[in-house]
Amino acid sequence: MADNRGKVTVVGAGFYGSTTAQRLAEYNIFETVVMTDIIEGKPQGLALDLSQSRSIEGFETRVVGTNGYAETEGSDVVVITAGLPRKPGMSRMDLIGVNAKIVRQVTENVARSSPEAVLVIVSNPLDEMTALAANVSGFPRNRVIGQAGMLDTARFTSFVADEAKVPVSAVTTLTLGSHGDTMVPVPSSCTVNGKPLRDVLPPERIEALVDRTRNGGAEVVALLKTGSAYFAPSAAAARMVRAVALDTGERLPVCAWVQGEYGISDVYLGVPAEIGAQGVRKIVEIDLADDERAALLAAADAVRAKQADVANM
Ligand code: 2OP
Repeated sequence: MADNRGKVTVVGAGFYGSTTAQRLAEYNIFETVVMTDIIEGKPQGLALDLSQSRSIEGFETRVVGTNGYAETEGSDVVVITAGLPRKPGMSRMDLIGVNAKIVRQVTENVARSSPEAVLVIVSNPLDEMTALAANVSGFPRNRVIGQAGMLDTARFTSFVADEAKVPVSAVTTLTLGSHGDTMVPVPSSCTVNGKPLRDVLPPERIEALVDRTRNGGAEVVALLKTGSAYFAPSAAAARMVRAVALDTGERLPVCAWVQGEYGISDVYLGVPAEIGAQGVRKIVEIDLADDERAALLAAADAVRAKQADVANM
């Protein structure tokens, strides 16, 4: 397709990486989607399979699988999914040592082969891996963002819609903070059919849904027994890539470098931001209830401490 432009690389051809590549290819806006993975044959096989769906799904994007970085050169956006997923009973933080090594090595390769790219990090623990990728790449921090808030928000929306028995399109929700124990769902920004969530559901039900959202990833891991969620996560990551590629400037909850906004500094944290060709155009400061603001400050402190640890891993 003459109009399809640009190259996106997805590092890691596991379920998260391959479904992200699939969604990106099916958008039919990119010239090339590259999947790279260390397992010989896997990204090549998946790319071949995905390419063969073009005439059915109606997309012209070229899909390439490789074990190296030569094919990824000059990518506009790179999604880093590399690393291990959780096993039942593990927290995302249990992955920090092993995934820090993987993300460090991948980021070195990516920074060398695509020095102008926007990086979208999804490896866990998310906030720490995003901070690590920013440090290792040396890229301006607006060009390194993490995917978590969109997923957590989508989960919260799904739970609220089911509870209130309304279509998901009638629900708006928001989560900030970390992609972990200090996730901060923001009921004051949530609405059902335009009405404040607090007027639609009783406080104890909201609290239960907030808890379920905070544990949303673990709930799926416990059911799957091997691996973690990927349909909703890949939808979120692909949507962020699209905002960058099309320079939409749309406001999305992402993990971004916060420097002064919300009275918080020097930390990668989940906040609403306008996303465009250069990654973060601007962090958006919304009104928060007092308890939500306090929770966001606490999340920033917790995440900042962990991000300092990860710098040496
Ligand atoms: C999740 O929450 C994979 O961290 C991701 O499911």
